[in-house]
Amino acid sequence: MNNQADRIIIFDTTLRDGEQCPGATLNIEEKLVIAKQLSRLGVDVIEAGFAFASPGDFAAVSKIAETVGLPDGPIICSLARAKQDDIKTAAAAIKSAAKGRIHTFLATSDIHLQYKLKKTRPEVVSIARDMVAYAKSFTNDVEFSPEDAGRSDPEFLYEVLTEVIAAGATTVNIPDTVGYTTPGEFGNLIRGIKENVPNITQAIISVHGHNDLGLAVANFLEAVKNGARQLECTINGIGERAGNAALEELVMGLHVRRQYFNPFFGRPADSEAPLTNIDTRQIYKTSRLVSNLTGMLVQPNKAIVGANAFAHESGIHQDGVLKNKLTYEIMDAQLIGLTDNQIVLGKHSGRNAFRSRLKELGFELSENDLNKAFIRFKDVADKKKDISDWDLEAIVNDEIKQVPDLFKIELVQVSCGSNARPTATVTLRTPDGQELTDAAIGTGPVDAVYRAINRVVNVPNDLIEFSVQSVTAGIDALGEVTIRLRYESRVFSGHAANTDIIVASAQAYVNALNRLYAAINQKTNQEVTA
Ligand code: KIV
Ligand code: ZN
Repeated sequence: MNNQADRIIIFDTTLRDGEQCPGATLNIEEKLVIAKQLSRLGVDVIEAGFAFASPGDFAAVSKIAETVGLPDGPIICSLARAKQDDIKTAAAAIKSAAKGRIHTFLATSDIHLQYKLKKTRPEVVSIARDMVAYAKSFTNDVEFSPEDAGRSDPEFLYEVLTEVIAAGATTVNIPDTVGYTTPGEFGNLIRGIKENVPNITQAIISVHGHNDLGLAVANFLEAVKNGARQLECTINGIGERAGNAALEELVMGLHVRRQYFNPFFGRPADSEAPLTNIDTRQIYKTSRLVSNLTGMLVQPNKAIVGANAFAHESGIHQDGVLKNKLTYEIMDAQLIGLTDNQIVLGKHSGRNAFRSRLKELGFELSENDLNKAFIRFKDVADKKKDISDWDLEAIVNDEIKQVPDLFKIELVQVSCGSNARPTATVTLRTPDGQELTDAAIGTGPVDAVYRAINRVVNVPNDLIEFSVQSVTAGIDALGEVTIRLRYESRVFSGHAANTDIIVASAQAYVNALNRLYAAINQKTNQEVTA
């Protein structure tokens, strides 16, 4: 492929840049579940991690390369600083992928050169060129990013890009690392690169951007109009600080407004050929999965995947939509898989029905996980008459979540009411197998439960987010609780679903505490940052 690619390449960095946001840390099994779903979604490239950052990152990239990097699957990529050891480690991690990419980066802005790298421009050019050539000795597919391109001197950027393409870079990615540029500026930057980098036709132009000013998606769409053909994005827009450009917004923007974008690809405006390879019906499911596993909630008014994105509240709008959807809807909820929520199973459904529906939903569980999920399903079906696809997803996501099993809840009991002091009793099994019971009074039942748990676990922390959402409508709905807590400067998340929201709250809290407990008891890995 060259930068004349006639469609957009979607490069998903949920598992790398997305996972860099506080509290979104995922373990290997969770990363693998997300990678499989990204493959179903149809992304072209999965940036599976930063292999050199820690042994855990290396293991995750390797596992994804081996399992998801199939010949007809996505390209599996690892990030690497422009250093030999990073690049060698990235190459080892992606080696079992049918299609593997090394993505190496080095800053080019004067601010980064002066204060971070303490290097001159000629030194940066030479390192970038040498490291791309080194990466090329492992794989043909090499991407180079001049970090902080958005604040770099364009003339210097042209020089660096010319050199790295000559050294073998097949993709040059232009990051707006600090989310500083505006759409017009970013579009001009891409046009400048097309016009001033003499060998640019030998590489795909990619863009990467952060959302500090809320402009990442707008910047990307302007970049597309000026020749960018790969978009680096994350599910739900998660990522460093204000996040990255959101995949679902880019894909649906290009889809819904294809008549506007088609001419920039040399197509007739009315061409129906898709501009990306994404199966849009997988978008909603992927969004929920990422939100559940990372603990990063989706705001209700979030474009495309927010709970209100397709809701019409005002009477005038409702009236219009009833007369004709086109009055106030620019896309059908079905397009993102939102209305595929069928009532499928009930308490009489057997194991085979359960297994085959999960398979249709794209879950491939081990026998052990299937057993655990089936027990949970029976338990939920006893309390809730109809089990929908979304309930099934919540149950399975809950069961397959590989939270370290350190503290386990054996009992949660609360007493509360209008004239009562909320009191909770909890029994937990500790990592060394003891059963400890404690009780506490709180401002409400959840507060009382958390205080009682704290008395047993005894790790000081601040609860910084607590949220309850129902999976479906109805009084018997499953409640999903997501919490985030802070320990020193680190954030840990927990998530759980149950028809009893007090039990879900307790479980979500213990899940987060288990992650915290595992992290503080683990030897700290080598710290590297992108
Ligand atoms: O934001 C950034 O510049 C990055 C690079 C590593 C591409 O994430
Ligand atoms: Zn980034």
